[in-house]
Amino acid sequence: MSARSAAAPGKLPAGPPEDLAGLSKAGVEEITTGLRHMLADVFALYLKTKNFHWHMSGRHFRDYHLLLDEHADQIFAMSDDLAERARKIGGTTLHSISDVSQHQRLTDNNQALVAPEKMLQELSSDNRELTGYLRSLHEVCDKHCDVATASLIENWIDESERRVWFLGEIVGAL
Ligand SMILES: [Fe+2]
Repeated sequence: MSARSAAAPGKLPAGPPEDLAGLSKAGVEEITTGLRHMLADVFALYLKTKNFHWHMSGRHFRDYHLLLDEHADQIFAMSDDLAERARKIGGTTLHSISDVSQHQRLTDNNQALVAPEKMLQELSSDNRELTGYLRSLHEVCDKHCDVATASLIENWIDESERRVWFLGEIVGAL
């Protein structure tokens, strides 16, 4: 008899909530892995967006500087929900910056000087790539009937597509 099944009637058993989400073990593993990569990508893109916000230059400085701050806030706001979804379904998430670097799929940009148009092109491409990863993770959630994670992802896809739209309109006019 497990510790969970030995809990007193009416009381939640001690220990991690392995079965509170009603997902299979394989489902938890696959979704948790996807969430971990997504969180790493979100931290990488957040920092790159802030990096470009800080190092922006040129005659459109104010507009671009403010736009990238809005985008960074929106991207960062995903992080806590991504991490806590993993915990809610009984998985674990990232522990450190080195953990981020091991799991991110989006690439960093450590160049000292980047032209404004290059910054916006790169962010447009990164946000497009992030949208693709969100769609893939949504399919994984659908496969395992994790409607709550899928629901969060749907909003993030919409936000991500909006960022791609704004960046694309600017890049297209340059
Ligand atoms: Fe700022």
